[in-house]
Amino acid sequence: MTFSIPRGTQDILPEDIKKWHLIEETARNLFSTYNFSEIRTPIFENTNVFARGVGENSDLFNKEMYTFNDKGGRSLTLRPEGTASVTRANIMHSLYKKMTPLKLYYIGPFFRYERPQAGRFRQFHQIGVEYIGESSAYADAEVIALGYHLFESLGITDLKVHINSVGCKVARPVIEEMVKQFLSNNLSKLPPYIQEKFHENPLRILDSKDESVQAYIAGMPDIKAALTQESKDHFFSVLQHLDELQIPYEVTNTLVRGLEYYTETVFEIVSDHLGAQSTVCGGGRYNNLTNELGGPTLPAFGFGFGIERTVMLLDHIKKEFSISIDVYFIPLDTLSRDILFYVMNRLRGYNISCEIGYTDQLKSQLKKANKLNAKRVVIVGEDERESKRAQYKDMLNRSQEDVPIDQLVDVILNDFTVNEMPST
Ligand code: HAM
Repeated sequence: MTFSIPRGTQDILPEDIKKWHLIEETARNLFSTYNFSEIRTPIFENTNVFARGVGENSDLFNKEMYTFNDKGGRSLTLRPEGTASVTRANIMHSLYKKMTPLKLYYIGPFFRYERPQAGRFRQFHQIGVEYIGESSAYADAEVIALGYHLFESLGITDLKVHINSVGCKVARPVIEEMVKQFLSNNLSKLPPYIQEKFHENPLRILDSKDESVQAYIAGMPDIKAALTQESKDHFFSVLQHLDELQIPYEVTNTLVRGLEYYTETVFEIVSDHLGAQSTVCGGGRYNNLTNELGGPTLPAFGFGFGIERTVMLLDHIKKEFSISIDVYFIPLDTLSRDILFYVMNRLRGYNISCEIGYTDQLKSQLKKANKLNAKRVVIVGEDERESKRAQYKDMLNRSQEDVPIDQLVDVILNDFTVNEMPST
């Protein structure tokens, strides 16, 4: 019997995991520089968190959620995004009372029932930040800069920041009317699935990645004309701060984002190297969500970026990730195995990464050491035990010396302190 995995899921194999670790570690380090703390929320939530969180009119809620009843008849949903869950946790634990502003980040799997394609999965992984309790335009700029610097730190620079504003609650019906008016005369020329959105959620039409639709809406008047003066001032302050931080951006008048909680600034970081799924990071301000989920009014700003798409960008810049190990031990008989087993375990206690071959064939063991890119190799057999000296090979500069077996640990530790950085 052979097994398969569900459509839209994937195994992340050891050969790729270094990229995942690099992305996660880079993010954690940068988040702590920006004073964000980690939060972990459940993988599934009560469905109403997302009904109210991402909006009952959104495609995400209507078409893309993994929702099921558990054995107790409760409606549960595998989390499709992190902002609603973090907001729910903030309200439930009154985190905002203990710390304002609240700066949180999360890393983990998310689930959306979407049509799988390159860069789009049904189980994907997101790293997100939420800056809650601060309305200043500085916060918007700070978080956008954090997103941009994250990719820069990974060596990914060929990116564009698209930015726009959807204004406050007051502006939304006006913007919807603007979109409807613009589209109404030519609605029949647009694809049927786009026409459907016209009545339920016209702003979603602007978000379409369909090129024919994009070409059409490019001629739309700027939705920011509908914004209040306060929203316009906020947006221009954000742009000003981005200029001060030297973050390059493009104001994209049709950018609205799919989730319903956004207010004021919205942004996306896009790349030309991701095919149809060109957005690697998306976010914006959501000033009403905490209140709508039953908490106080707390302005907030955040983003989420996909790890799978970031891995695709690392592959594009051909970043090299070779596996390497510090020391490979080759014992040539049973007694030597006992000796090297002990030496290896002592060195592991000092964070020196080690591997041992338990079969006695020198040639095949040397091949394995090469495959693991071992920096050093230690060989002990009958002759070495008799002379009490191990063969100690430097695989990087192809030299060799004999080292007293009872001093192996000290010699290797000294070598890795003076000459070599341990791999772990
Ligand atoms: P989002 O734009 O829906 O925003 O997702 C953010 C990122 O997650 C996308 O730019 C993409 O890289 C990745 N992503 C989304 N769906 C998939 C998928 N099916 N397969 C692979 N990658 C995917 C949010 O989720 C908001 N919660 C972001 C946010 C945080 N806004 C404010 N705070």
